[in-house]
Amino acid sequence: MMEEVMPWWKTAVIYQIYPRSFYDTSGNGIGDLQGIIKKIPYLADTLGIDAIWISPFYPSPMKDFGYDVSDYRNIDPLYGNMEDFDQLLESAHQAAIKIIIDLVPNHTSDQHPWFQESRSSRTNPKRDWYVWEDPKEAGFPPNNWLSVFGGRAWEWDQHTGQYYLHSFLKEQPDLNWRKPRVQEEIFKAVRFWLDRGVDGFRIDVAHYLMKDPGLRDNPVNQSGNQAIHKSLGEYDAQIHLYDKGHPDIHRVYRDFRKLLDEYPPEGSRMSMGEIHIFEWNEWTSYYGKNLDEIHLPINFSLLGAAWNAGSIRRLVDELEDNLPEGAWPNYVLGNHDDHRILTRVGRDQARVAATLLLTLRGTPILYYGDEIGMGDVDIPPDMCLDPAGIRQPGQGRDPNRTPMQWSDEPWAGFSPPQTKRTWLPLADDYTEVNVVQELKDPTSLLSFYRQLLGIRKTHPALQTGSYQAIAGAPEGCFLYTRENIRERILVALNFTHQECCIPSEVYNQGKLIISSQSSRTDHEIKQLVLQPDESVLITL
Ligand code: GLC
Repeated sequence: MMEEVMPWWKTAVIYQIYPRSFYDTSGNGIGDLQGIIKKIPYLADTLGIDAIWISPFYPSPMKDFGYDVSDYRNIDPLYGNMEDFDQLLESAHQAAIKIIIDLVPNHTSDQHPWFQESRSSRTNPKRDWYVWEDPKEAGFPPNNWLSVFGGRAWEWDQHTGQYYLHSFLKEQPDLNWRKPRVQEEIFKAVRFWLDRGVDGFRIDVAHYLMKDPGLRDNPVNQSGNQAIHKSLGEYDAQIHLYDKGHPDIHRVYRDFRKLLDEYPPEGSRMSMGEIHIFEWNEWTSYYGKNLDEIHLPINFSLLGAAWNAGSIRRLVDELEDNLPEGAWPNYVLGNHDDHRILTRVGRDQARVAATLLLTLRGTPILYYGDEIGMGDVDIPPDMCLDPAGIRQPGQGRDPNRTPMQWSDEPWAGFSPPQTKRTWLPLADDYTEVNVVQELKDPTSLLSFYRQLLGIRKTHPALQTGSYQAIAGAPEGCFLYTRENIRERILVALNFTHQECCIPSEVYNQGKLIISSQSSRTDHEIKQLVLQPDESVLITL
């Protein structure tokens, strides 16, 4: 039987790089593109991941650390230049690593020439590239919409006597996607990068582009439920019905997909969308009715989940049950906006998390540093840099963006020794928790990740096989199988700190592929008692 040839992004493990924090070659305490190039051997050989998604590296005033873009077709000098980028593309491709870049289409920086023109006068041809509105009576903002980062989503412009919309910072004005010229210009930028050879895009806040054309007020949130998987403070006071997610958005993504599909070889360019929607039908709508929109709407469901077998299994099964025919799943456990997985689940459970991420059906997206067990770093209030945290204490994302811990050398090997300071402080634990140290230790978390990543490659059932949860698993354990025509693999995860006895019909005298605990030596499984926090893979 001929097996279906899968597009690369279905079998890939995607690794997210926050470029400020990956590797600094210049000595200014901030990571750069040359740093990513230098670490390609780590990505390709040590880890064996297949693709990197790089958070924004475009010119930016850095009010939101690059998510405020002032030029969509260039590189911020902090990170290097276009030659560095081309070199990165080439070296990555030589190492069989695909490059996914961040696209920030909802808003620009207020320093972007488009906005500068737009705000210059009411009659400027670019005026309507952004969302400008007259005040309501008595000078009040046009409606009650709030910024995700706190406060009103409208900023008064004295010079032209109107308000402009900003769903995030006031330095990040929202583009007006109802104007065809806006789409044309952003698509030109997309072509610019596709022509250079990038393999895909991660679309920032993909569901924010289209708002209610009538700009109606959002209803008050009576239920007290959070808007997304984490508290957003003041923003949670409303139900965000009208300020994002208008169905007109789907036309944009159909057009976007057509653009990607123009590039040969067929189906080689992909998109993944940051879509914080937790209602499955609405979330899956971003795949497109005919799977003709975003390849991978990013699935954030596990980020806010209670860490126990029952709730994790329920979320996985719900996703599987709700996926449209032919749509491909994906999972994330960490990113630059959320607390680190290690901090959320604790060191004991870190291997259960690793096993889950790398063995569920779907594309795993792994956040840099999670593979060595980096945790959130306490950042004193006076060192807080993230605007989200400055505006709403406790919401800061600095703790999960600290420099990668490469070694126990000065600056954890992230910056050259003569560096004065790194842009965010390093974790205290870097002398033990670092790449060099963990590579020496076959029982380290990094060694475990490496083994799992290798096993994914040598056991295609884990990449493309079916998923089936096993009913009647003992309390605290999540058991499932991954199966293709050649093999059937049992994944058994113990979410508790106690032993857990697995009924014999489940493992059926299978053979151990890997255990998270080096003490397990029984290769023919005669009896399976999971140790506290243990995860195992067994061939049935
Ligand atoms: C996305 C990014 C986040 C940024 C925001 C505004 O959520 O992941 O880091 O602050 O968009 O651009």
